[in-house]
Amino acid sequence: MHPMLNTAVRAARAAGTVMLRASSRLDSLNVESKQRNDFVTEIDRQAEAVILDILGKAYPQHAFLGEETGRSGQGGSDFQWIIDPLDGTTNYLHGIPQYAISIALEHQGRLEQAVVYDPVKDELFTASRGGGAFLNSRRIRVTGLKGLEGALLGTGIPFRDDQPIEPFLATLRGMLGPIAGIRRAGSAALDLAYVAAGRLDGYWEFALKPWDMAAGLLLVREAGGMITDFAGGDNSMRSGNVIAANPRLLHSMLTVVQNSVGPEYHR
Ligand code: IPD
Ligand code: CA
Ligand code: CA
Repeated sequence: MHPMLNTAVRAARAAGTVMLRASSRLDSLNVESKQRNDFVTEIDRQAEAVILDILGKAYPQHAFLGEETGRSGQGGSDFQWIIDPLDGTTNYLHGIPQYAISIALEHQGRLEQAVVYDPVKDELFTASRGGGAFLNSRRIRVTGLKGLEGALLGTGIPFRDDQPIEPFLATLRGMLGPIAGIRRAGSAALDLAYVAAGRLDGYWEFALKPWDMAAGLLLVREAGGMITDFAGGDNSMRSGNVIAANPRLLHSMLTVVQNSVGPEYHR
């Protein structure tokens, strides 16, 4: 395993320990609302601190972008770590065992290393650019489904005020019919990891943040899948809009999305 990936795995596992330890006292957790329906707990913050401590000690010359602390480290560095310390906070708060730590490393703007770790199931999804994607050391691949017929898709349902409900519902309506089902599991990082592992055939979501998807995007690519924004381009990290699947299914999903949303998404 690449030494930088190895360090990221160590950081993700340490954060997972923080989460599991606190999961027996959810009622006493300190919870704040960042905005309506968007919560942050002391565990999100502690987990990010643990991750930044481990990465920062190993790579003091790198830059860091964490959901809870924003930018830190050496701003001018070619290396940037992108961290979501707890993806699926709403699940975590409700005692639903579907959440993860997501850590990615970019070098000169290109994703190089990725870890998504589910501490409850002890499932570790990892990828290095050019080296394939793995679940607990076993190689994983996206499914080979050729279109929407029979597909199991993941998505996210908008819940924050800044997320578009009507365009989402239009895409949902467009997908329904040929597919076998939809899952809204509550962690974008795991949704992408599940596409990489062939558990979901495809996934789409509006208005994500870079830390929700950075590690998952590399996992999907290294598992033989493709990622696109809603314009069919490579701008998901900036636009927040993402479709992930094998290339043929992705083409069908992109067609549905483009037929469902307004021209502002086609650019
Ligand atoms: C959220 C999860 C969720 C997605 C939201 C994200 P958080 O991340 O990934 O699945 O639908 O858009 O904000 O807030 O739990 O880190
Ligand atoms: Ca997140
Ligand atoms: Ca989070």
